[in-house]
Amino acid sequence: MRILITGGKGVIGSFVARYMLEHGDDIIVYDPMPDTSLIADLLEHITVVDGDVLDLPLLLNTIKLNKVRKILHLAALIVPAAQINPYRGFQVNALGTMNVLEASRITNCERLVFTSSKAVYDEIGGAHAHPTYAPITEEYPKNPVNVYGATKLASEHMCFNYIGNYGMDIVILRFSSLYGPGRLLRHGGLAMHSVILENAMLGQPVRIPSGGDQREDMTYVRDVARAIALATHAENLGHHVFNIGSGRGVTLHDTAEVVRRLYPNAEIQIGPGLDCFQVGYNLYAVMDISRARAELGYQPEFELETGIKDYIAFLDRLGIGPLFTPTEEAAE
Ligand SMILES: NC(=O)c1ccc[n+]([C@@H]2O[C@H](COP(=O)([O-])OP(=O)(O)OC[C@H]3O[C@@H](n4cnc5c(N)ncnc54)[C@H](O)[C@@H]3O)[C@@H](O)[C@H]2O)c1
Repeated sequence: MRILITGGKGVIGSFVARYMLEHGDDIIVYDPMPDTSLIADLLEHITVVDGDVLDLPLLLNTIKLNKVRKILHLAALIVPAAQINPYRGFQVNALGTMNVLEASRITNCERLVFTSSKAVYDEIGGAHAHPTYAPITEEYPKNPVNVYGATKLASEHMCFNYIGNYGMDIVILRFSSLYGPGRLLRHGGLAMHSVILENAMLGQPVRIPSGGDQREDMTYVRDVARAIALATHAENLGHHVFNIGSGRGVTLHDTAEVVRRLYPNAEIQIGPGLDCFQVGYNLYAVMDISRARAELGYQPEFELETGIKDYIAFLDRLGIGPLFTPTEEAAE
């Protein structure tokens, strides 16, 4: 099956491309990013187009020339980039999705998978918040707290319009936070779990002043990639929207504990408190993934420790060195 992945050079896209290639699909990556380090091992086996989702003619040509049958739309500006430049964020995320919807409609694409986020939800409150973390379902109220979430919700609404108006087959996946190789490279210090691991790999200290008590659903990138592959090919779906997560909450302390087991000399200090990503609002939640389990056959396979071990092995395999991130002194 010919599959086009927008944003396929990114953290998740690279793993989706790898997973689907291994499972017999033909992959066309559509992404203008000059850095191909995350797909370095795939370059001989896939088609790469340095295309922008805002370039509708090129997108259409790419789909037609390569006889693409399904599209996985991952291209996006993530939270900080969209917040710093809301105009660009809306352009790439929301108008970019419009172009992908139009291209899918015009070319009679068989299925479009849109990668959304838990950022479409309202702030997490009541029993869903610390310390009880009752899992949130797809019905949790929507009221995005940042530009990124607003662009994702706008895109979801347009997906529903295309489903209603044209009968298109669209699956929307709402991801929790995730960790994996490449996140630090691409998303910087926001990837706190990567900072803890990669500093320890380099023998460098980590001092995070606060946030150690916050639980967050952290999914390993290979589980996310598998969820996308399942959503690409699943049949007889009863819903269009699925939460994808690990279904459990972990803290920075949990990550530090695993990293210390693997690197006994690691010097890690993490202060107490909530808001581990220091964003100033509460989107920390555990995802209820029962719908994805039932309809997509999705089952997270990686525990925190197996995920971190795979992360280390993968960096080694691709020859990507760990990155050093300076951190602050922990509060006494
Ligand atoms: N990483 C997370 O924690 C997370 C959580 C929830 C949802 N998501 C969603 O999953 C998808 C993939 O995220 P990721 O973590 O791999 O991000 P990423 O930043 O690693 O990858 C995004 C890719 O999109 C590409 N891109 C940006 N603008 C583009 C454009 N105009 N045209 C084509 N490509 C463009 C980038 O070059 C990049 O390779 C995104 O839609 C993101 O919103 C990610």
